[in-house]
Amino acid sequence: MALLQLRGVSRQYRNGQVRIDALRGIDLTIEQGWFVSIMGPSGSGKSTLLNIIGCLDLPTSGTYELAGQRVDRLPDGRLADVRNQLIGFVFQSFHLLSDMDAQANVELPLIYRGLGRRERETRAKTALEAVGLGPRRHHRPAQLSGGEQQRVAIARALVGDPLVILADEPTGALDSRSGQTIMGIFQQLNRERGLTIVQVTHDENIARYGGHIVHLLDGLVEREELLGANPAPSGEAAVLA
Ligand SMILES: Nc1ncnc2c1ncn2[C@@H]1O[C@H](COP(=O)(O)OP(=O)(O)OP(=O)(O)O)[C@@H](O)[C@H]1O
Ligand SMILES: [Mg+2]
Repeated sequence: MALLQLRGVSRQYRNGQVRIDALRGIDLTIEQGWFVSIMGPSGSGKSTLLNIIGCLDLPTSGTYELAGQRVDRLPDGRLADVRNQLIGFVFQSFHLLSDMDAQANVELPLIYRGLGRRERETRAKTALEAVGLGPRRHHRPAQLSGGEQQRVAIARALVGDPLVILADEPTGALDSRSGQTIMGIFQQLNRERGLTIVQVTHDENIARYGGHIVHLLDGLVEREELLGANPAPSGEAAVLA
């Protein structure tokens, strides 16, 4: 069964009299265990698509099934539950809370789930260790490098044990070496845990860490590219336990 299946998905925005067709009929299937990179020019609809995949936004028309469940017409509350339980998000600018340490940032999604303190602590610690940040778990974001902050954000995405990680330009704010480390972590999560990953990137080298590339153009899938068995371009980042 496909993990994600979009059929004829469109998304229109209205700005006064002007209608913008951000997505114009996307057909896309992503199987469990795939690592997919979405590429395309600025304005081609990449973020709009990722937001719909992540249940942060709804299509104007078309259908979307996530793990066999229709999610294209859910009310806000149910959508929030789907996000919290099935999806881990990673953003270009990390979105960490600056007055909390790494551990507290990673625990946050578990607070929304109502887990007790002990379990939150244990799970957050495990997630931070998985991204190689166990020793830094009491650092605040300002005391961490950009690459380390993004690793905290990945731990926060992982801690709820999601079905899929969605990342919008996860290396866009990082130098190339930190970007490679982040991709090494994604690759390891994908290969060793079978975690499904969908990322948006402008960078061909970053895209190639995945196994599939979806090229968007003007709100449509222009073509899909299946990459061969792809060894990590840098062989880095054996940081996972
Ligand atoms: N909230 C909005 N209101 C109106 N138009 C929007 C809105 N969000 C996006 N758009 C428009 O939809 C189109 C697709 O935007 P989107 O952000 O998905 O592009 P993108 O491929 O992610 O671009 P970039 O590479 O610059 O991030 C663009 O024309 C954009 O201006
Ligand atoms: Mg975008």
